[in-house]
Amino acid sequence: MTKLQRAKRLNALARRIRVCVKCPLHASRTVAVPGDGKPSAAVMIIGEGPGREEDKSGHPFVGAAGRFLDSVLEGSGIKRTDFFITNIVKCRPPQNRTPKRNEIETCTANYLFEQIELVDPKLILLLGGVAAKKLLGVQSVNAARGQFIERDGRKYLVTYHPAAQFYRDDLGDKVKEDFALLKREMQILKRRRSPRITTPDADAPRAGKRSPRAGGAG
Ligand code: URA
Repeated sequence: MTKLQRAKRLNALARRIRVCVKCPLHASRTVAVPGDGKPSAAVMIIGEGPGREEDKSGHPFVGAAGRFLDSVLEGSGIKRTDFFITNIVKCRPPQNRTPKRNEIETCTANYLFEQIELVDPKLILLLGGVAAKKLLGVQSVNAARGQFIERDGRKYLVTYHPAAQFYRDDLGDKVKEDFALLKREMQILKRRRSPRITTPDADAPRAGKRSPRAGGAG
């Protein structure tokens, strides 16, 4: 699939998400939040579900948790525009409660798994227990974090949800450690995607020798 086809299919999926009425969450949402970012991102970030500001704006991670996420990304020297960012459920649960099982099943089966297939990332960063449980079946973020987990040809990294550090100070530092790990892996992926050309170019001027076509004085 070309990059253009991928972007078009993601947009078509986003249009379906915006008018979705498949689970009860549609009744209380302002707007759905399909997710956004680079359609061909090597790394995808998956959170839990939109909060109040996301529900108003239609974009993921733009509220308090998003601001913390942005500060961690900036501190790690990673650009937000390098990712495709979305959530397990695309509509805000009332009072920001944890999404229910039927909401999670409906939303992932209809939308998230297709988004993953279309973006086809090498690595998926799971923010928080809801995302970690749904995608990897792990019961605790604490047990799963700090290591890359391989599943079906992709790597996964689990970390705490950025909002968790509002309740427990020490988690902020752990999230930062995990993002340092993410950055190292992203650098490895980048090197693999754009290998340096090592084949010597017969016409290229060699060190210490002048190209006959280089011209110049002398
Ligand atoms: N929390 C999430 O899990 N996702 C968002 O988009 C915002 C807050």
